[in-house]
Amino acid sequence: MSGVIDLGEFGEEFRSDPHPAYARLRALGPVHRVRPAGWESETWLVVGHEEARAALADPRLAKDAAKIGLSSLDEELIGKNLLVCDPPQHTRLRGLISRAFTMRRVEELRPRVQRITDDLLDAMQPYGRAELVESFAHPLPLTVICELLGVPEMDRAEFRKMSTEAVAPTTSGSEYDAFVGLAAYFTELIEDKRAAGPSGDLLSDLIRTTAEDGDRLSADELRGMAFILLIAGHETTVNLITSGVHALLTHPDQLAALRADMTLVDGAVEEMLRYEGPVENATFRFAAEPLEIGGVEVAAGDPVMVCLTAADRDEARYPDPGRFDIRRDTRGHVAFGHGIHYCLGAPLARLEARTAIRALLDRAPDLALDGPPGEWLPGMLMRGMRSLPVRW
Ligand code: HEM
Repeated sequence: MSGVIDLGEFGEEFRSDPHPAYARLRALGPVHRVRPAGWESETWLVVGHEEARAALADPRLAKDAAKIGLSSLDEELIGKNLLVCDPPQHTRLRGLISRAFTMRRVEELRPRVQRITDDLLDAMQPYGRAELVESFAHPLPLTVICELLGVPEMDRAEFRKMSTEAVAPTTSGSEYDAFVGLAAYFTELIEDKRAAGPSGDLLSDLIRTTAEDGDRLSADELRGMAFILLIAGHETTVNLITSGVHALLTHPDQLAALRADMTLVDGAVEEMLRYEGPVENATFRFAAEPLEIGGVEVAAGDPVMVCLTAADRDEARYPDPGRFDIRRDTRGHVAFGHGIHYCLGAPLARLEARTAIRALLDRAPDLALDGPPGEWLPGMLMRGMRSLPVRW
């Protein structure tokens, strides 16, 4: 492959609507060497669906930056977490969390998710209009994950600011500050939980979870785990709900089809994930050895980004991929990743999004946009809009 593609050349529109640029890249080939806007360095970008799935499942693409002599900001400041390590360490950490975060635990949350949803809608209803992110799409997953982990009432505005900066930083300094702030926050939270003794919540269980061989999470690993659960547990779902509602409101035929048959809601949420998934690019991987992806030679040590947004609109996999169609066959979408790092919270995210969409449509029969959406999140990790004004 010759030449590096400067993503900055796609201009400002790349942030609000990267799909045309990704379509052009896919037409040129499934894998490219690119320089993201504002970057000094280059990375490989996988945009084809088949190649993305293969890359996500390839053990030669490692997550532990130390393997190639680099360090990662979140690991340095927050601690080891699932997304910055490889087997056998990853297998061990994932095993310990899976013991505490079971399907049954998610299923038990169903009535609480419904209650939190209803309470938020009750508070919104009398006004006839709202900014959906602020009043609904953000507080729902944040409240659920905080209750699940056992995070007491906290300064949610401050926490929200730090966590959004960590995943979609507005400046490089703000990213660092957000990680420092979050690290201090989690250290204190875990100390409080440890002192308080067992209380039945997930974090308190994790502090005490012990494998058959006596293995447990270290303090550093606990902080990493709390961090990833709290951040991944709400920054993503907020965007699924918001982008999903936006897709419905801008596709009246699809909205009408769903209203006419609410049993379509599960499929509609899968299509929302495929059409405008919350994670634009999977977290970084590094070639632990030389390998070939989609016919391209990747050298040992090279960073690789797998573009989930581009993969899920690959015309080779989904016919007419730019069409939002709640009845389509969405099987194989990679919005939750693929392979050993497949999203641990997928069942919870689905439960929340299905509950949210069903309840919102039910309670607001005339739901409509009330002005243009806010700006799209910066950076290439998350895909979502900052605000969405609606009325009913
Ligand atoms: C719509 C909502 C969500 C989306 C789109 C999403 C997406 C993803 C993706 C794409 C990955 C893999 C990243 C990679 O391979 O680089 C991932 C991993 C992960 N997610 Fe989610 N996620 C969502 C919600 C959640 C929730 C609610 C939780 C927690 C309760 C969660 C916890 C995690 C964790 C712990 C991992 C790391 C798994 C591992 O490395 O083994 N996610 N998620």
